[in-house]
Amino acid sequence: MFAERTEWNLNANRLSEALARFRESGQKLLDLTASNPTECGFQYDGASILKALITPAVLKYHPDPRGLTAARKAVLEYYARRGETLALDDLFLTTSTSEAYSFAFRLLCNPGDEVLVPTPSYPLFDFLAEIQDVKLVPYPLIYDLGWQIDFHALETVVTPRTRAVIVVHPNNPTGHFAKTAEIKRLNELCAAHTLALIADEVFLDFSFARNTPYSFLKNQAALTFTMSGLSKISGLPQMKLAWLAVNGPKAEKKEALARLEVIADTFLSMNAPVQAAAPTLLAQRHGFQKQLMARVETNLAELDRQLAEQQSCARLEIEGGWNAVLRVPAMRTDEELALELLEEGVYVHPGHFYDFSKEGFIVVSLITHEQDFVIGMEKLLAHFSD
Ligand SMILES: Cc1ncc(COP(=O)(O)O)c(C=O)c1O
Repeated sequence: MFAERTEWNLNANRLSEALARFRESGQKLLDLTASNPTECGFQYDGASILKALITPAVLKYHPDPRGLTAARKAVLEYYARRGETLALDDLFLTTSTSEAYSFAFRLLCNPGDEVLVPTPSYPLFDFLAEIQDVKLVPYPLIYDLGWQIDFHALETVVTPRTRAVIVVHPNNPTGHFAKTAEIKRLNELCAAHTLALIADEVFLDFSFARNTPYSFLKNQAALTFTMSGLSKISGLPQMKLAWLAVNGPKAEKKEALARLEVIADTFLSMNAPVQAAAPTLLAQRHGFQKQLMARVETNLAELDRQLAEQQSCARLEIEGGWNAVLRVPAMRTDEELALELLEEGVYVHPGHFYDFSKEGFIVVSLITHEQDFVIGMEKLLAHFSD
């Protein structure tokens, strides 16, 4: 009765079963995987958000495949403050970055076509691609005092069925940005094989560098789809407001915009209240990002302080984002390690969750409450000192 694409193994894995048991036991969990900003103790201007959602404008239906002009203008204004220019017509609002991916996949891929995706990276991609009948082909990122794209490996995985290359900028969970030379090589690869670039910039604002990082919105050499949204920018994943911007060579861009308009018009998925509130929701970013970066800096300093007192574990370099990757002794699989730590009340993500190619990596969230982070890291590092 059901499509083969939905033949997933839906059994809970050992770690999620153990987590459910731990939660049922009622014991205190030191959750070092926190990723939901609305549950991390950040303050939002709740009164302004609620006021912006309740306005007479939401009582009228003005369908627009790209999203309402006022909401798109708020996104343009956000980019203008970053020094980026974007035309109103080159922007499509979507309910999430995930939906933006699905639009891009639908636009670019026939069933069975391939999209190249970095590893390690964010695990949601697999499902997003499968649901659209797209085959994800991993290309490796390598770590050598910092992360970089393994271009040799990337070039070898391109086939006649490849349609696009995904770049997560900065990547989750490695926290590294694509560098100027890498962007040049990516463009050359795309030109040589007629591929599009899909740039996921949801963490772009969370850079530890002083300079404003490069945005793929500027990329003209290849047909480029840049996506971001309020889940991370303003810490408001529940509002379901994200976007997809198109840039690149004139003729391809024109064709892409016309076809995307049909895809977006078929769904018209944006709701009126969130679009009416878009300027207010985007304005939340100022207060939110200040609090979030303060949290990340405090936790990172604490992590480095604790790491300096031992020799078993080390942190990989990070340039931005909400996570830190730890290299830990690979005495058992990362899943077994995560299970052992859970027994001690500390929850971390094993590296394989993000497709690390080797054992010996775990990922901790830097947006965890400071007190939990201190104790959780103490327990985690103590685990290796026995
Ligand atoms: C790299 C990356 N892209 C996209 C998303 C999903 O964002 P959205 O809530 O807009 O679908 C996430 C969520 O964690 C992410 O880490």
